[in-house]
Amino acid sequence: MRYLFKYLVLVIGLVIGRRINILKHNGVSMLRYPEINWSLVPFPSQKGKVYNADNLATVNRHVFLDCPKFLSAKKVAEGRWGGAARDVSWRLNIILWATGRALENINTEEIFVECGTGKGYMAAAIAEYHDFKSNRPNFYLVDNYSSELINPHGVAIPSPASFAYSGDVNEVKEYFKSYPSIKIIKGQIPEILEQLPDKPIALLHIDLNNAHAEREALNILRGRLISGAIIIFDDYGGHGGQEQAMVHENFAVESGKELANITDWSGDYYLVTQVQKSNLRVLIFSKS
Ligand SMILES: C[S@@+](CC[C@H](N)C(=O)[O-])C[C@H]1O[C@@H](n2cnc3c(N)ncnc32)[C@H](O)[C@@H]1O
Repeated sequence: MRYLFKYLVLVIGLVIGRRINILKHNGVSMLRYPEINWSLVPFPSQKGKVYNADNLATVNRHVFLDCPKFLSAKKVAEGRWGGAARDVSWRLNIILWATGRALENINTEEIFVECGTGKGYMAAAIAEYHDFKSNRPNFYLVDNYSSELINPHGVAIPSPASFAYSGDVNEVKEYFKSYPSIKIIKGQIPEILEQLPDKPIALLHIDLNNAHAEREALNILRGRLISGAIIIFDDYGGHGGQEQAMVHENFAVESGKELANITDWSGDYYLVTQVQKSNLRVLIFSKS
């Protein structure tokens, strides 16, 4: 069947005088997905190099993939997953940019917080890229460090991204011990957030894959966000993240802020180059 389809596409290409490539997505062939309705989008290479990973396919610029510093942070992060279990380069590029911006004017009191760390892919990349071995703000990695994914009814279910979860907090502590300002906090969110020091938050990364816990965390932490703080919502746009997206959108409305569905901005002004369909969304608390 697969070969027949490929042959058919080849023949169609010959008939219309075009070469058509069938790409895999996230390592899966389109013939293995159960969906029967497909949209075939033309991506001629004259428009640019194709980026096709993590539910994002585009021919727009993605020069970060040529940057040695980015590539070395990505390699370090993938080491946490025991290899390139999934290509999340675009999200990584955004979070590294966002943390860099948050670091620009940070004062000694302010902290970074991540709710949902697992093995620490993003945290490892941030630590490597922004040299957290030198003088950096305290960065709290809060997670229950459990390999089980608990559904909203309290039942443990297999995680679709089990490679990102960690059931061994000591291994995570061991990995991050060479970064003096990175602190591991193990426990259930929201309750464990009481153990966070009462300091202003300059950057908050929310990645719990759990709408209820994300809402509770936001409610607890909102009063501590500095003006100009950056919040990164990992699962805003992705398949299966609809409930979380509602939490993020409601939070933005309640805060009187707008979610930025963008990939590039600078200073206090948004420079929208192109709206992308990435999983990741960023909310910037504008300076007052
Ligand atoms: C997708 S993973 C995080 C991935 C991570 N941000 C990375 O860079 O790879 C989601 C994490 O949230 C944790 N988690 C989910 N609900 C939680 C809760 N209520 N309290 C604490 N941790 C939770 C899970 O154990 C898991 O480690």
